[in-house]
Amino acid sequence: MTFRTLDDAAKANGGLAGKTALVRVDFNVPMEGGKVTDDTRLRVALPTIQRLRDAGARVALLAHFDRPKGKVVPAMSLQPVVDDLERLLGAPVRFASDCVGEEAKAMIADLDIGGVVLLENVRFHAGEEANAPDFAAQLAELGDLYVNDAFSAAHRAHASTEGLARLLPAYAGESMRRELDALDAALGNPQKPVLGIVGGSKVSSKLDLLQNLVGKLDRLAIGGGMANTFLHAQGVDVGGSLCEKDLADTARAILAEAEAKGCEILLPIDVVIATDVKPGAETRTVLAREPIGDDEKILDAGPLTVEKLIKAMALSRTLIWNGPLGVFEVPPFDAATVKAARAAAQLAKAGALVAVAGGGDTVAALHHAGVADDMTFVSTAGGAFLEWMEGKPLPGVEALRRA
Ligand code: 3PG
Repeated sequence: MTFRTLDDAAKANGGLAGKTALVRVDFNVPMEGGKVTDDTRLRVALPTIQRLRDAGARVALLAHFDRPKGKVVPAMSLQPVVDDLERLLGAPVRFASDCVGEEAKAMIADLDIGGVVLLENVRFHAGEEANAPDFAAQLAELGDLYVNDAFSAAHRAHASTEGLARLLPAYAGESMRRELDALDAALGNPQKPVLGIVGGSKVSSKLDLLQNLVGKLDRLAIGGGMANTFLHAQGVDVGGSLCEKDLADTARAILAEAEAKGCEILLPIDVVIATDVKPGAETRTVLAREPIGDDEKILDAGPLTVEKLIKAMALSRTLIWNGPLGVFEVPPFDAATVKAARAAAQLAKAGALVAVAGGGDTVAALHHAGVADDMTFVSTAGGAFLEWMEGKPLPGVEALRRA
């Protein structure tokens, strides 16, 4: 393992018993009216918290919520997370109203062995996002070791995700380690052939990602609105579809690079079109090359495309998926995404495919298809997963690398 993990922490300097671990988690959870509406990120943090408690450590949790921009914004407090965390952990969780200073110090000192305290939003301090050394030093005063379990915030070079790792012995938590293992199996060191599926609305938001992937994958299926830009770049009339016409040259350059690097690009061969994006809209399925009306929009991939994609999955040993194939939030334009997701999950369950997916929309689409639990790994990260797919080093991960 290229990263220091809790196994290393357990062996280092007399082990974990009696130590205070500062654990960076990502509790930036969806909330409505002060209530957590999706506790996935809380659950993801449990194995690390529990392992540290079992080893006799005290646990001080560091997290951000939303973007308060260095000011105390009461509506962005982490306090509402406490009840859910206690319920999931089955143990009391104390709450400190500031993440640094005397109150936090006293609360940590007062914890029993195995006790847990959640510290208030680190982003209430401007030093967090600025990665200010004095703020990182104030955080470091609170503990003996640092554990980063927040892969989904690791693309940020902030004090609690990066600076702190330079001041205390630093380790990857259990969830961070699982993410890194899965991502390595998907793109770092995958079983070949590797298939990528990249969807979503815009090419412009995924340019770096596409450029990185064509150099690494054997096949890349492009879907969603961004496929329209590629079809347009090949001279196809996409009617009133979402399309970034100014990126036609860029799309052609990506196709040429893919060809030069031996990456087969799969574009939709048939598409589902409609004039309105509304539930139960009247649709037509046409070959992608057929001209469509100016008032018609491509809203999903067609059945021939999905069939071809499923055949490509069967030829692959690894799948990395980011972005839906159509407007999956509005049935019937979810059909291609759902069918492809179910096929991937089936192959993954049978052990024939390592299927790794990530990104907010993708996770929602897999839940919609009812197969999120059947994939080999589903990342809880949004921006961090994208930056990792772009091939960028993530500061929070780099800081945990073995020397
Ligand atoms: C996320 O939700 O993707 C992470 O918590 C990072 O949040 P941020 O984009 O506000 O840094």
